[in-house]
Amino acid sequence: MKFTKLTLAAICALIAAAAMADKKASETSPSEDLSVYRDYFAKRFPGVPLNEFGNGVYSIDRVSRDSWEAIEEFPPYEPMIEAGEAFWNQKFANGKSLGSCFDGNPAQRTNYPHWNAERKMVMTLPLAINECLIANGETALNYKKGKIADVLAYMSYESRGQKINVEVPDDPDALAAYSAGKSFYFARRGQLNFSCAQCHMESAGMYVRTDILSPAVGHASGWPVYRSKWGELGTLHRRFSGCNKQVRAKPFAAQSEQYRNLEYFLTHMSNGIEYNGPSARK
Ligand code: HEC
Repeated sequence: MKFTKLTLAAICALIAAAAMADKKASETSPSEDLSVYRDYFAKRFPGVPLNEFGNGVYSIDRVSRDSWEAIEEFPPYEPMIEAGEAFWNQKFANGKSLGSCFDGNPAQRTNYPHWNAERKMVMTLPLAINECLIANGETALNYKKGKIADVLAYMSYESRGQKINVEVPDDPDALAAYSAGKSFYFARRGQLNFSCAQCHMESAGMYVRTDILSPAVGHASGWPVYRSKWGELGTLHRRFSGCNKQVRAKPFAAQSEQYRNLEYFLTHMSNGIEYNGPSARK
């Protein structure tokens, strides 16, 4: 895999990444990480307001932004929002519906992911949806696409404008889950031996084959995503799996502990940015 234009910015990224990755978890708190991370992208892409990063690569590339804006005028995910709303309202065999697990309120984006201290695990919204279905005697959904993406599209649409605010409590287990997500982000993997950070921090804004790499900040905001390449909606963990496969690494299962911890770290790094899903991507 070849990158064009290795710039000074990439070298700065190495330094920022090293500052975050090389220290032991005990030496740097999640809030310190967040400020290193934000500063890095603010310097790398001066003039791009923090919230704009929620638009992925379109926050930094004028040319692809124009065609994306045209697509967003007649969003390809609109029918899925409607299908998701119908699913949300559909009665279970026991007469209840999904709302019974979410205080009747679909605008839940801002509440997930979060640390569940009792269960000592990161709770994500797709997991909560499936646990609700199972608790009510219904069938669990596939985590990558289809109905779960529809219902997430509806819930995200209802949550648009809520701010990402993932807190990592001062609890050793929560910090360990956060650190595991962070280590995942900086670990090289696969036959091509690339880390997430190498592509989405160091090389953000550069080309890899025909794609411009999006900056990692804001990566958690726009889900689920309608990708033209997929021709359908997909979830964040589907994307994790795709990015693992790109470097010829074996992907983990959607909603595995590894990916939930990764989501926890990545979403914390997007704090302050608005949820704006669902969205369209190339
Ligand atoms: C070899 C480079 C490469 C690596 C390594 C890589 N990605 Fe990606 N990733 C891409 C490309 C190319 C895209 C599509 C263009 C874009 O939006 O950046 C993408 C897109 C994404 C997106 C969607 C962004 C959006 O706005 O739609 C997310 C989220 C993401 N990657 C997360 C990750 C995570 C997490 C890892 C580590 C597990 C990772 N990537 C590793 C190349 C990479």
